[in-house]
Amino acid sequence: MNERQTFQPSPETCSGAGVNDKAIYREAAADRETFWAGQAGQLDWFKPWEQVLDESNAPFYRWFAGGKLNAAYNCLDRHLKTERKTKAALIFEGEPGDQRVLTYQELYREVTKCANVLKSMGVRRGDRVAVYLPMIPELPVVMLACARIGAPHSVVFSGFGPGSLCDRINDCRAKLVVTADGGWRRGRITPLKDNCDEALAGCPSVEKVLLVRRTGKEVNFTAGRDYWYHDLMDGAPAACPCEQMDAGDDLFILYTSGPAGKPKGIVHSTGGYLTGVAATHRMVFDLRDDDVFWCTADIGWITGHSYAVYGPLANGCTSVLYEGGPDWPQPDRFWALIEKYGVNILYTVPTAIRSFMKWGTAWLENYDLSSLRLLGSVGEPINPETWLWYHQHVGGGRCPVVDTWWQTETGMILIAPLPGVTPLKPGSVTVPVPGVEAAVVDNAGNPVPPCGGGYLVLKTPWPAMLSTIYGDPDRYVAQYWSRFENAYFTGDGARWDEDGYFQVMGRVDDIINVGGHRLSTVEIESALAEHRTVAEAAVIGKSHKLKGQAVSAFVTLKEGFTGSPELAAELKTHVTRKIGALARPEDIFFTPEMPRTRSGKIMRRLLWEMAEGRVEADLDGPVAAARHGI
Ligand code: WT7
Repeated sequence: MNERQTFQPSPETCSGAGVNDKAIYREAAADRETFWAGQAGQLDWFKPWEQVLDESNAPFYRWFAGGKLNAAYNCLDRHLKTERKTKAALIFEGEPGDQRVLTYQELYREVTKCANVLKSMGVRRGDRVAVYLPMIPELPVVMLACARIGAPHSVVFSGFGPGSLCDRINDCRAKLVVTADGGWRRGRITPLKDNCDEALAGCPSVEKVLLVRRTGKEVNFTAGRDYWYHDLMDGAPAACPCEQMDAGDDLFILYTSGPAGKPKGIVHSTGGYLTGVAATHRMVFDLRDDDVFWCTADIGWITGHSYAVYGPLANGCTSVLYEGGPDWPQPDRFWALIEKYGVNILYTVPTAIRSFMKWGTAWLENYDLSSLRLLGSVGEPINPETWLWYHQHVGGGRCPVVDTWWQTETGMILIAPLPGVTPLKPGSVTVPVPGVEAAVVDNAGNPVPPCGGGYLVLKTPWPAMLSTIYGDPDRYVAQYWSRFENAYFTGDGARWDEDGYFQVMGRVDDIINVGGHRLSTVEIESALAEHRTVAEAAVIGKSHKLKGQAVSAFVTLKEGFTGSPELAAELKTHVTRKIGALARPEDIFFTPEMPRTRSGKIMRRLLWEMAEGRVEADLDGPVAAARHGI
């Protein structure tokens, strides 16, 4: 097999594809606003917009200004007038094997009841609700209930620890937290309520906690503050009107790592976001009416918000929701789920695919995967070898692989093929979706010639773009719209070829990508520096065969402390408590001093080369001890 091979859309993919005429690219480019207005028109609006794109206060662009809608209404109510009423909206399977199917009618009823529960707990339009739940149906239910009453949700990934949860709650001053007694992950219980109790000790804004029973684990219960979800749901009325939201009203806040440490609250607005995710979910996944769609990403990340909740439900599609790990109880769980539920479209991350490759094809062989029609990849660069394995062994050589580039900030997929028209090249995210304009530019912002590399920028606004950084509009402007004139800076490095195909190389800032999870090296450094023994820490992302990158930390200790395997283990646990297991350093190197430039900056490049084993550390130099790293 040739890694430079191009895959043309097959006749089977083209026939029946929603988009099978490449004229769509030309038409959208000729008039972006009309194109996106056409997509927005596929939603139900209480009041039509007056202006498609209001640029008067750029870069605070306002999409569909003057329009009114509700996201939950678009994901639920409008489907009840059609045959989708009895169609499965969510097919849930818990890690222990429990199952639950919710039709659109049933999901609607859960959501309206939950909306009334939230109201009864004092949540009003505009209040922020923090949601710290495992991958169980209550997670989308709570999100949609928030959307229904106009209370922006801030979902915190259940893999984050108490420190991260506390920071996020405080930044948006959430009034209510929804959590669970735990969630199942690789046979163990994630102690969500315990983490939550620890976090809430430092969160004065939180008045009440809504607690879902999931695992039966015994948890602390604070009377007057904590309420059992199921008790309140039992007594809640089912009728709940929808708030009429302005297109520009906040739908949710989702925190992500930004350069310079502190997580940023990325704000997404109702009208533009929903338009963007619904349109791309239809176009990029070539969605058909009877498809079973499975996005394996946790809803705690943007991928789950956009393609496990809002996109699929706005399109009236059936989605699989799976709680646990891919190798539980053994490494065939994904294939078992695909066969059992007849999944047609699988959307997952390269890290998972590389694990499947490592575990071996024998795990797939006993399963009938013939229902699959399309495969997607997201979150990190997928190398051609992994792409080809995915194509051949999971897709049986017949399913197009759509590699999709986007970010928490972009809300929706921006660079990805349309399966019915765009030829595929393994390792390339191909071209921007219709209505989106991207470029690779040099330091001065000038486009680089084909086959060159540079910075990835977006040249025109797109509907699901972030509206701001919560509470920090200046940072929104500084971070995204100041590096280059009239362009959004993505923070990624990229190349493009003579056909205009993009290849995303990775971040050019201090963000690292561990298994598709975005982490800030500065945030991990600050966590380490809070430990009583640490004088200074420097964190870099080292290449990792499975995860793409892994966290490597260089640590200088305070006077009187010496590095040891025990201390290294203690520091790793410390980071897990502070941020979460995903930020846990793979290695810790103790060094008496950091290597510095003459101006005093830590030479991260040198640290990186040492962690990679590319350079020998100088035994007499300040980083000598790194060679004896633990
Ligand atoms: C960063 C954004 C997109 C939702 C999940 C991650 C990297 C994302 C790709 C891809 C190469 C990718 C970029 C980007 N990234 N998709 N298909 N190929 N790199 O969202 O956590 O906001 O991270 O993920 O570096 O900037 P996120």
